[in-house]
Amino acid sequence: MYDYFLGGKNNLPVDRAAAEMVLKYVPEIPIGIRENREFLCRAVRFLAEQGVHQFLDIGAGLPTQHNVHQVAAEVVPEGRTVYVDNDPQVLVHARALLQDSPNVIVAAGDLRRPGEILRDPAVRAHLDFDRPIAVLLLAILHFIPDGDDPAGIVRTLRAAVAPGSFLALSHVVVDERPEAVAPVERIYQNASTPFVGRLSSEVEPFFTGLDLVEPGLVNLHEWRSDAQVIDPLLEKSKPYFLCGVGKVR
Ligand SMILES: C[S@@+](CC[C@H](N)C(=O)[O-])C[C@H]1O[C@@H](n2cnc3c(N)ncnc32)[C@H](O)[C@@H]1O
Repeated sequence: MYDYFLGGKNNLPVDRAAAEMVLKYVPEIPIGIRENREFLCRAVRFLAEQGVHQFLDIGAGLPTQHNVHQVAAEVVPEGRTVYVDNDPQVLVHARALLQDSPNVIVAAGDLRRPGEILRDPAVRAHLDFDRPIAVLLLAILHFIPDGDDPAGIVRTLRAAVAPGSFLALSHVVVDERPEAVAPVERIYQNASTPFVGRLSSEVEPFFTGLDLVEPGLVNLHEWRSDAQVIDPLLEKSKPYFLCGVGKVR
């Protein structure tokens, strides 16, 4: 569905049908997803400029244009990236596309079990946990139900990385679309991951204990962007898809 929203070709009729149903309720999704990828680029560049050379991207998705390791390499050519996902299709595509990238590995892992990701020998061999790591949770936490303790997951990841590391996350919020929550959650019940409609006030606590870098938790297009033209569907600063970057003390 994500690939379809992005205008890609790696999707099936069933994905397209479900995605079209979601678009009826939330027409701004494709814009949000494009903005999300642009946030990824700005955040990774910012983090590399802060001296972070290692990236742990969980829920990495299908490789597309401007992937984390490519954006990072523009600043730190020797940067190292681990892509983690739990979707077998994503893993197959990612491994095929990235096999010639020596500074990149692809690992199977489930964000709901962060300990397993952190203990994975391949992950530990590729990243040095005594040095800063940027943990990226982009457009994934809204697929983790409260019952799986997303706040606890974030705390586990934070506790595992060295001081000076960063957490970057983006999360759809439903403050402005209360009427869409129930139908969209219903559509995603048939998908591989459930969608969890959260409010801005429920996303803010993910940064508790981290030093949130400027401009804080804001809409994707408001994070260190110099874009002059904002899509009219994004309607001023109403929260629709928040993002932020926090530093581990
Ligand atoms: C919407 S895509 C986001 C891709 C990329 N992070 C981005 O922001 O463009 C979400 C990805 O998270 C993966 N995912 C969903 N639940 C997951 C979980 N529990 N553990 C690991 N990956 C998961 C999906 O397979 C999908 O590839």
